[in-house]
Amino acid sequence: MNSVTILAIESSCDDTSAAVVSDGYILSNLIAGQEIHKSYGGVVPELASRAHQANIVPVVHQALKEAGADLSDINAVAFTRGPGLLGSLLVGTSFAKGFALAREIPLIDVNHLQAHVLVHFILRKGEEKRLPQFPFLCLLVSGGHTRIILLKSHLEMETLGNTIDDAAGEAFDKCGKVMGFGYPAGPAIDKMASRGDHKAFSFAKPSVKGLNFSFSGLKTSFLYFLRDRLKEDSEFIGKHKADLCASLQHTIVNILVSKLVRASEETGIREIGIAGGVSANSGLRTAVKEEAEKHGWNLFIPELSFTTDNAAMIGITGYYKYLNGQFAGQDIVPLARL
Ligand code: KG4
Ligand code: ZN
Repeated sequence: MNSVTILAIESSCDDTSAAVVSDGYILSNLIAGQEIHKSYGGVVPELASRAHQANIVPVVHQALKEAGADLSDINAVAFTRGPGLLGSLLVGTSFAKGFALAREIPLIDVNHLQAHVLVHFILRKGEEKRLPQFPFLCLLVSGGHTRIILLKSHLEMETLGNTIDDAAGEAFDKCGKVMGFGYPAGPAIDKMASRGDHKAFSFAKPSVKGLNFSFSGLKTSFLYFLRDRLKEDSEFIGKHKADLCASLQHTIVNILVSKLVRASEETGIREIGIAGGVSANSGLRTAVKEEAEKHGWNLFIPELSFTTDNAAMIGITGYYKYLNGQFAGQDIVPLARL
């Protein structure tokens, strides 16, 4: 078979990313973040959409250049169809459609969640590593999602557990905001937690049925706890920041990992991975490694650059869809929810 080289576009939230993936190997993966949201304490959809418009052409241009690829080398274009912010998705979708039309090449729509999970199948040029075997269980944790996903093959996935309210990343970000961290707070909490005692404080853990998650109770418990302590000592947060971060992180990680262990026990699956922005968390990484030792899991942890939104994961998913002949028409529209 001739080689298959795919240009991939990701624009579901606040990162504009383009990648070139050839026969399952990534040749480039460019990400332009959007600093503008920092001062608003969260992603502002309208601003995100405008920034994608400004970024997309230079990012694609650079991705092609770094891959050493000409326009004529590209056999298909893959893009994130959703879920995500509609105004952001529209930019990537329109670009991909225009590119496919102009080059007369196939268009491939990609589910953002599936792509996060398939991050474990990305190979760098010349890299050889053991890939997950099916069935594969993956904990997908980001700012918008918290799910346990069962992958039966590259393209068949089922959600075994989902959050009934907030996502784990949201719990990090919202609790972090109260402590005075900027957006997103997850990475800063992670850093600060390494200097704190995770046993210093304890917060309410939810009791949710089956493999589902809940984080809104924890957020409220954290808020009320701080409100009461601040009444006694207005400097409380500043004095105990590291312990607060360590205790909060420990609680979130515990909720996530206990459900992942349960999912593995219930399904008998020991091919286990983590993915999404929160999978960068060092507490989560350490905890899943410990569980892997205990339960004999083959564990897959993504490299840091593949934890947050990136087009390489869209490209690898697009590659498997290409091999399977799954293409989209020019009438395809993005979907905020899939
Ligand atoms: O996957 P992602 O880039 O975007 C979404 O699809 O949501 O995830 C972003 C989320 C944010 O909530 C951010 O705070 C969180 O991932 N995050 C972390 C860490 N790095 C990113 N949370 C905890 N610890 C980290 N090291
Ligand atoms: Zn994502």
